[in-house]
Amino acid sequence: MRIKSESTATPPSSPWRDGWSRRDFLKAAGMTVGGTVGGPLLAACSTSSGSSSSGPTQITFSSARFYGKSNMSQIVDEYNKSQSKVHVTYQELPPPSSSTEVHQTLVQQLARKDGTPDVFTQDVIWIAEFAGAGWAAPLDSYFSSSDRDAYFPGLIQACTWQGKLTALPWFVDAGMLYYRTDILQALGLQPPQTWADLTKTAQAAMSQQKANFGFLWQGKQAEVLVCDAVEFIASANGAILKPDGKTVTIADPPAVEAVQYMYDTIHQSKISPADVLSWDEEPSRRPFTSGQAALLRNWSYVWQNAQDPGGSTVVGKVGVVPLPHFDNGKSAACLGGYQYGVNAASKNKDAAVDFLRWMSQPAQQLRFATEVGLAPSKAAVYDDPALAKANPFMQSLKSVFVGATPRPVTPKYPQVTLVLQSQLSKALTQGDVKGALQAAKSQIEGIVKA
Ligand code: GLC
Repeated sequence: MRIKSESTATPPSSPWRDGWSRRDFLKAAGMTVGGTVGGPLLAACSTSSGSSSSGPTQITFSSARFYGKSNMSQIVDEYNKSQSKVHVTYQELPPPSSSTEVHQTLVQQLARKDGTPDVFTQDVIWIAEFAGAGWAAPLDSYFSSSDRDAYFPGLIQACTWQGKLTALPWFVDAGMLYYRTDILQALGLQPPQTWADLTKTAQAAMSQQKANFGFLWQGKQAEVLVCDAVEFIASANGAILKPDGKTVTIADPPAVEAVQYMYDTIHQSKISPADVLSWDEEPSRRPFTSGQAALLRNWSYVWQNAQDPGGSTVVGKVGVVPLPHFDNGKSAACLGGYQYGVNAASKNKDAAVDFLRWMSQPAQQLRFATEVGLAPSKAAVYDDPALAKANPFMQSLKSVFVGATPRPVTPKYPQVTLVLQSQLSKALTQGDVKGALQAAKSQIEGIVKA
């Protein structure tokens, strides 16, 4: 039987990063709201046992929701129509800003080891965990070294766990600074290169009434807060965890200086409203694209929103540059992005790989870039004139994507991030930065040394 390819989630009526309801979440995890196992994914699974003599091999694919001019469901449909050997049923999870929910759903699905979903997408921070648990199939025998050479080497490294390729890069994300070209021009200022410059620029924009908000970022107790903190801390020459995966440096002076600066933007220089403490990506993006803010830290997807006359009042008035740094540091962007994975328990790995090969073609990467705002993981796509036309900053900021700073790489990342989210949030609301970072340090030490 052929399974109709469709999203099991309600189609988004709002921008692609908006939230999901608890009902949607339970549904995706294969549960009804009452908690009984069932739901659309399992219904799909019962008919997705692989090849049959009469039809294509049926596989299932779970991904966080990414949405722009095209969505994943349409792209999966195109794969289905492009050939007759494999048919993919797509299941949509919450958006990437609901990182904890996406992670929890995937863990529930993969831990069942029943082979569904056959293919999934995973945030870069889960690769070690999923590989370490034996849930992600090694892909070395499917993707030759020349296949791998097409990707940025840092991404292949991020997809490699204990010497095995356990994920395939999809898109790369990095934090960057969006600024209003018209406001900076009126103030006679260049885009800021240091955090001290940024403070002055934001204050000037506010005092001369060019913008209600000087600088917006994401301080909500969520994954994105860790991303923002990684950028501030790395730009002071600090780190959360050393590459040995054991030495915790979150309470060292550079990190304290960086988190103190985050606190000060709200409470001392007042260039950021207290609202940033409850904002993740979309709530911080909206005031910027509606013309109320001079500067914004966000991911690459914002460019398209800013250029869309339907929802933006700042079309043609936005520039993008690398994030500022402290006097003694260098600009740093947090490495984000999602990768493909094949379920180690999948009974249809060849079909899964066929689908991934199609999804990874330069033409699809270009489409994700120009229609969904996701930066390519293959270097050659950056030379395509269509990319330069739709997203010029992707080419000019290629080195930002390539040199982005990872979050701590450890199979225990899900525990580490919860500590970081809670202690960073405490530091930003209560102001005892040293105390909160010291508490984070001892809790993280307990996790990574266990
Ligand atoms: C973006 C990044 C992802 C990160 C998430 C946090 O989607 O690509 O890596 O975890 O934002 O909200």
